Amino acid sequence: MKSDATCPVRHFLKETDFTPVEIQSVFATASEMKARRGAPSPARLPLARQSWGLLFFKKSTRTRVSFQVGVHELGGQPVMLNADELQLSRGETTADTARVLSRYLHGLVIRCYEHGLLEEVAQLGTVPVVNALSDYLHPCQIYTDFFTLAERWSNATPARHLESLKGRKIAFLGDTACNMANSLILGGALLGVQVALAGPSGYEPAAGIRAQLQRDGLAPTWHFTQDPVEAVRGADMVCTDVWVSMGMESEKAARLSQMQPYQVNAPLMRAARPGAYFMHCLPAHAGEEVAEEVLESPASIVFDQAENRLHVQKAILAHLARPPAV
Ligand code: CP
Ligand code: NVA
Repeated sequence: MKSDATCPVRHFLKETDFTPVEIQSVFATASEMKARRGAPSPARLPLARQSWGLLFFKKSTRTRVSFQVGVHELGGQPVMLNADELQLSRGETTADTARVLSRYLHGLVIRCYEHGLLEEVAQLGTVPVVNALSDYLHPCQIYTDFFTLAERWSNATPARHLESLKGRKIAFLGDTACNMANSLILGGALLGVQVALAGPSGYEPAAGIRAQLQRDGLAPTWHFTQDPVEAVRGADMVCTDVWVSMGMESEKAARLSQMQPYQVNAPLMRAARPGAYFMHCLPAHAGEEVAEEVLESPASIVFDQAENRLHVQKAILAHLARPPAV
């Protein structure tokens, strides 16, 4: 779609692209959409007459399906674009692809390797771009994770969502240099959540995410330790992610052995605050980053977390959507 100078295009590439006030509103919309899912009304179809592209360079189950269903439920048409099937895979540039797709679509949801690709498409295209995971960040997941916790900690009171998160402690174990860890660092600083990261030597969060906090003017709320028990002590929620992220397969053997001490198991969960939740963005590898006894325990809220991807992403899309050109 052609750009409209009176209505600047908004993107969602990183956690800090929305202010806390906007996040409060996104969470409230997500709650409402969740409650009314079975009873849509024409007034609640912000993507009516719109087509949104879902461009995936990597595998996905949750993100792909929840966005496809979400665009449809908001009145729009999802257009699935596997990068392998586009001329991109035969050498057409990202710049040309962005400019062409912008002429057809009202928005683009992209899962890719290098985060820079998202920034390039956002800069050259003329429609909203949503980060559906890059090697650097996974902001849709982190917003969903905080929303899932806020639902519980606020006793389902949307006005108290953000307040209920402030000052809480979250522990993340395992690959503390991955996209999920970076997103927790950024989202935690934005919303006043303490984040303890425990992983092996060599997996400390990289300079890039520290610089991002500085650019956003946020005081760090995270710390890194090699001691998993120290990280989980007093934590209100313990989470982890796969030890071998997409694109890191060549390091699999080394990672599986180095990260073994950071498996989230029952003794470790007992060291957290009583009543602490366990979360995982999924897919999970039971027996690796998490013991089956934890994944399947009452503390585990991973499927509520997965479901909430749909509601939160619908709220994000509604927040970014612009009226269609006639
Ligand atoms: N958590 C998540 O993003 O899952 P998918 O890789 O299946 O989309
Ligand atoms: N860190 C994982 C997240 C998967 C949802 C990956 O990038 O593969």
